[in-house]
Amino acid sequence: MRMYDLIKKKRDGKELTKEEIKFFVDGYVQGEIPDYQVSALMMAIYFQKMTNEETVNLTREMMHSGDVVDLSKIDGIKVDKHSTGGVGDKTTIALAPLVAACNAPVAKMSGRGLGHTGGTLDKLEAIPGFSISLEDEKFINNVNTHKVAVCGQTAAIVPADKKLYALRDVTSTVDNMSLIASSIMSKKLASGADAIVLDVKTGSGAFMKTQDDSFALAKAMVDIGNGMDRETIGVITDMDQPLGCAVGNSLEVIEAIETLKGNGPKDFTELCLTLGSYMLVLSKVAKDFDEARTMLEEAINSKKALEKLKVFIEAQGGNPLVVDNYDLLPKASLEVDVKATKAGFINKIDAEEVGIGALILGAGRETKESEIDLSAGLKLLKKVGEEVKEGDVIARLYLNDESKKDNAYERVLNAYTISDVKPEQRKLIYGIVDKNGINKFN
Ligand code: URA
Repeated sequence: MRMYDLIKKKRDGKELTKEEIKFFVDGYVQGEIPDYQVSALMMAIYFQKMTNEETVNLTREMMHSGDVVDLSKIDGIKVDKHSTGGVGDKTTIALAPLVAACNAPVAKMSGRGLGHTGGTLDKLEAIPGFSISLEDEKFINNVNTHKVAVCGQTAAIVPADKKLYALRDVTSTVDNMSLIASSIMSKKLASGADAIVLDVKTGSGAFMKTQDDSFALAKAMVDIGNGMDRETIGVITDMDQPLGCAVGNSLEVIEAIETLKGNGPKDFTELCLTLGSYMLVLSKVAKDFDEARTMLEEAINSKKALEKLKVFIEAQGGNPLVVDNYDLLPKASLEVDVKATKAGFINKIDAEEVGIGALILGAGRETKESEIDLSAGLKLLKKVGEEVKEGDVIARLYLNDESKKDNAYERVLNAYTISDVKPEQRKLIYGIVDKNGINKFN
């Protein structure tokens, strides 16, 4: 078999066989196939797409490209959640301790930033001392003792995704349904959780921009998960404007902490309560969605979830004092206000543009090798539906390198559309996909 022939076959819109998919996955992991040929194949897949069978085969080959974790030593039904990626998505930092505080074991493997979206691992590393590299035994012990652990994808787990993810990030081949589904599900299946809640984003800041594509992505992933005996549910959620207000690693950690203190942005708090409810139901800690939601609200009100966050941070080597003292987190030296150029209502905030703005400021990676500035980012001080006067501060940029200011300012300003009429409120949750099929909410 030759990689050249596979690229040509896919370029011409033909279906790759199981053996051909195995050939390129194994060859890439073993370093026998170079980045440039795999980049070409990714681009061919991007344009020509993959069939369901190709997607399932790719997922299976990726999953078996490395170790498959055995979490059977953890008591209870281990539940994982994964987001398809968005802007301002700091959900895991609040949700993992929140669900753990209700006694459901959260054994979670997270990823780094990709494209214009941030990654949980980068955000957690903004906490001084926090380690995302846990040996298997420590990971299992932490979940058994504290009900929560979040680790990075080690080189031994789905090495194929580690390489492909980084390559897709810099070759503009992220937003393809089969590549996203196989990337996420291979990791979820290899990381051993019994049940999986998928947060499938839809809108301008998501990799899937339309609702139809987002439901289709959810269906593809839910079918893969359930087909492999892991109860899987997909929740389709809004990413047409960034989630919450903070975008950037340190800033998002603060917003997640504030949410567990009961002061979080409304949309972000609601998302945590919704996803958390499905997690508690799948882990059989709650009998139904309503009971689960009450348990989660109680965990926030009683500060049980905040205490769990401190325990979680400490158990992974981080300084738990950050929860009460934000000065311990990386802090940018410069702040710049972005001002409205006209009066009206905020009609739209293009999440992708905001994500790129944050990336320019240093919060994300421009190339595989780029270093992240953990303190850089921005805060959206006005969100969709709010009224502004000309000159009002709509966003604030946080940066250390002044040369990045103008470019980021323009991006963030242009991300906002201000109009004369108040826009209709968008939904936060569009529906769910589970083993019974698609359920679109009215
Ligand atoms: N998240 C992942 O883990 N993989 C993708 O391809 C996109 C989002």
